[in-house]
Amino acid sequence: MNRKLAVKGIAYGGDYNPEQWPEEVWAEDMRLMGEAGVTMVSVNIFSWALLEPKEGVFDFSRLDRILDMLYAHGIAADLATPTAAPPAWFFTAHPEALPVDRDGRRLSYGSRQTFCPSSPAYREAALRITRALAERYADHPAVVMWHIHNEYGCHNAECHCDTSAAAFRRWLRARYGDDLAALNDAWGTTFWSQWYYDWDEILPPRATGAVPNPTHQLDWRRFCSDELLSLYTAERDVLRAAAPATPATTNFMVMYNFDALDYWRWAPELDIVSNDHYLRSTDPESEIDIALSGDLTRSLAGGPWLLMEHSTGAVNWQPVNRAKTPGELRRNALAHVARGADGIAYFQWRAAKAGAEQWHSAMLPHAGTDSRIWQDVVRLGADLRALAEVRGSGSTARTAVVWDWNARWALELPSQPSAEVRYLDLVRAWYEPLWRAGVAVDFVRPDADLSAYRLVLAPGLYLVDDAGAANLTSFAERGGTLVVGFHSGAVDENCHVRLGGYPGAFREALGVRTDELFPLLPGEPVGLSGGGRASLWSERVRLDGAEAVTTYTDGPLAGVPAVTRHTYGAGRAWYLATLPDAGTLAALLERVRAEAGVRPVVDGLPDGVEAVRRRGTDADYVFLLDHTGQGAEIPLAPGAVDLLTGRPLPENTAVVPPGGVVVAREPQKLFGET
Ligand code: GAL
Repeated sequence: MNRKLAVKGIAYGGDYNPEQWPEEVWAEDMRLMGEAGVTMVSVNIFSWALLEPKEGVFDFSRLDRILDMLYAHGIAADLATPTAAPPAWFFTAHPEALPVDRDGRRLSYGSRQTFCPSSPAYREAALRITRALAERYADHPAVVMWHIHNEYGCHNAECHCDTSAAAFRRWLRARYGDDLAALNDAWGTTFWSQWYYDWDEILPPRATGAVPNPTHQLDWRRFCSDELLSLYTAERDVLRAAAPATPATTNFMVMYNFDALDYWRWAPELDIVSNDHYLRSTDPESEIDIALSGDLTRSLAGGPWLLMEHSTGAVNWQPVNRAKTPGELRRNALAHVARGADGIAYFQWRAAKAGAEQWHSAMLPHAGTDSRIWQDVVRLGADLRALAEVRGSGSTARTAVVWDWNARWALELPSQPSAEVRYLDLVRAWYEPLWRAGVAVDFVRPDADLSAYRLVLAPGLYLVDDAGAANLTSFAERGGTLVVGFHSGAVDENCHVRLGGYPGAFREALGVRTDELFPLLPGEPVGLSGGGRASLWSERVRLDGAEAVTTYTDGPLAGVPAVTRHTYGAGRAWYLATLPDAGTLAALLERVRAEAGVRPVVDGLPDGVEAVRRRGTDADYVFLLDHTGQGAEIPLAPGAVDLLTGRPLPENTAVVPPGGVVVAREPQKLFGET
């Protein structure tokens, strides 16, 4: 069944927590939501304690009134299961459901999401309230979507208690076909006398004296992701049985260093993919983080998605919480739409007076409507209405970046050649020049169908299985351009080193063979022929069919290739055996792009202006966002119309105001941006 969101245009709203306010306030909420053009709100996310005051005793009267009120005001409800925050009575009855950290410390309740993902009592209680909600509200006319739980794993991605240990063993028995010898082999347990003779000997990777076994840790990450996923699917199945046509989602967190869940495994289980995104105060170019997050989420969704949460201003969970600059709220929201969001929502509607998030911004700030944030929120509502026709349009990318959580987990295990190598930093370093050039990017799994792409980039793909590696190399062999980053293909899915020289799985396609790794110390870059500098990593690469594009000019590897290019079958395979400085990397990727025939989404893009193209059935939507504060003039195709003003663009030129945004409808070209 095709479960689509029954809200017109680009949905607009936020988390709405009216239970935190006296009911007199609700009427004002409805009036102001109307003024802002809010069309959908997420309700009930943290209401468990009020809904079920005692085990099995429900009080739905308040939620009835909330949903009826929303319906009466034409606002759709994304109705949440409140299972991210079990009430205190649950934990006093089931203290064993509190999670245990790797040091053996059992946490206490008093916050949120403090439960053991493997706890049978938690699962039973979560499904009980889910069932009660499903029965009561399956046919409520306000309910257009189920918002299952909230940010799975945000605070409790792992629990090390004995119940979790038993669940881990069950998961391992399934993975290894009940064959303990297969597990011992996969984990390499002959090393350090770690051989297991009985399944019951296996524990979660609890705190221990020295480095734990890498495959043990990797399987643990896989298990933790699957364990939470099974909670999601259990709730979803209850809701689906009661309301087969209502789509279900749960809000992902694909960015800000959250890496606990393998969202490639999660995404197919969601009817609609949604994501939360927050800026980091320390990131001077958070527009690039938004873009990367949006491209990754769209790729997970295989099309449009919903931005379930972001902020109108400062958050409250960083050491110093930066407010947004004038125009930033609008640019941020429209940047998500540009990357495929068909809905824009905030945490939260009304700024809280009390509680842990009282200093978090909201659509309606503490100061009330006489505030810049409120004015921006109202204006954004109008913008989103004007963009209604963009809904459903997709990406035009011919470039793919390989993204894989297993590779990320494995690359960041302890005892690597360098602890300085961080997966997200590598992906961002490669993504940045593409962003600056206005090149459309999708993210793919290693085993994805690559037929739509001309250029595939694999930074930091440390772990890859044989099928994934073969998929990537055959893409090059069939005529594509493949770029592989250092330390990729080094280990198989069990974290076993691929022998015979690095980069194991890609050696043949790249036409190189490395016999020794030379990670670089922080602050000690080496020179590159052509003038650039390289940091983080180097290796003694020997050419085995490839040509050297760049070599090191100093350091222990002076004269050794740092970047290579290999003609492989009908295509090409490049190896970046180091991390070149930003300018050198940008120049390299530009050369690679030219060779692959990949063009930006618009020509003549000035520095600091972001260009994104969404392709609809009859038109393209070109988003132009000025991040320089200077404004820009961008030529577009004849006949382009400014969607935000409804007016044709004079002389086929989009004039982007300083810090502003233009969204242009372009008649579709038969060729162009690819
Ligand atoms: C999210 C969470 C929200 C709120 C928000 C604050 O991680 O889902 O409930 O806490 O952060 O930024």
